[in-house]
Amino acid sequence: MDTRLNTLFVGKVLLQYDRLDSTNSQAERLLREGKPAEGTIIFTHDQFSGRGQMGNEWYNDTFKNLTFSIILYPKIQFPKHQFLLNQIISLGVRETLSEHLNKPVKIKWPNDIMVEDRKISGILIQNSISKQSISHSIVGIGINVNQDKFPEGIGKPTSLFIEKKTTEDLMSLLNKLCLRIEQWYLKLKAGNFSEINAEYHLHLYGKDEIKSFKTTDGAVFKGSIHNVLDNGLLTINTSDGMRKFMFKEIAFI
Ligand code: BTN
Repeated sequence: MDTRLNTLFVGKVLLQYDRLDSTNSQAERLLREGKPAEGTIIFTHDQFSGRGQMGNEWYNDTFKNLTFSIILYPKIQFPKHQFLLNQIISLGVRETLSEHLNKPVKIKWPNDIMVEDRKISGILIQNSISKQSISHSIVGIGINVNQDKFPEGIGKPTSLFIEKKTTEDLMSLLNKLCLRIEQWYLKLKAGNFSEINAEYHLHLYGKDEIKSFKTTDGAVFKGSIHNVLDNGLLTINTSDGMRKFMFKEIAFI
């Protein structure tokens, strides 16, 4: 039990490991063996095979960043309310990072956290579905905190250190994240869907700005993000009219 935490359940059980392949994979193993308390956090300073979206890897230096997973039992309707879970986690992470920065922090659809055009955090949510409801979720969060340099070829990352030139205490940042994520999760459980959706759109990266996109078949086009539908589809206003995309069908360029 972590009594320093001002939360009801997120982070109250903090399972710390010296080294892990992936905190999401460890959460999967724990869920196969039993039922960890809701809000249990699986944490390591040394994740050596971090998993990202679309089968990508998540790399970062040891002891400098936050890599953790939260186990939740949302029991929300699937697929109807699935995207709301992505929204509230992004909102909690965005809000916490924004309190540390003087620049706008945005959510790039579906759930990357951006400082200007650079990614500071990635989120990987794995849901388990039973009877059209999300029975458990593994919410994996990676945040670049004190890392000052990144290798070439992994996109355009940034970190709190690069943005502010000051070092953050990782555990104190984790505590703040737990609190914010729990606050948004409770809004989801209370059914405050329109507030969640409005706040997500308020901070949506690229909304109403002309950007270039590429589809999986290689076609490049320009358009402006109109909104994200309740089912998570991205709608883009283009010269050919409004187009809708699923995650994996399109990339920002
Ligand atoms: C992405 O942007 O591609 C998602 C990255 C998610 C990385 C985090 S780090 C903690 C958790 N454990 C993993 O293996 N992945 C997530």
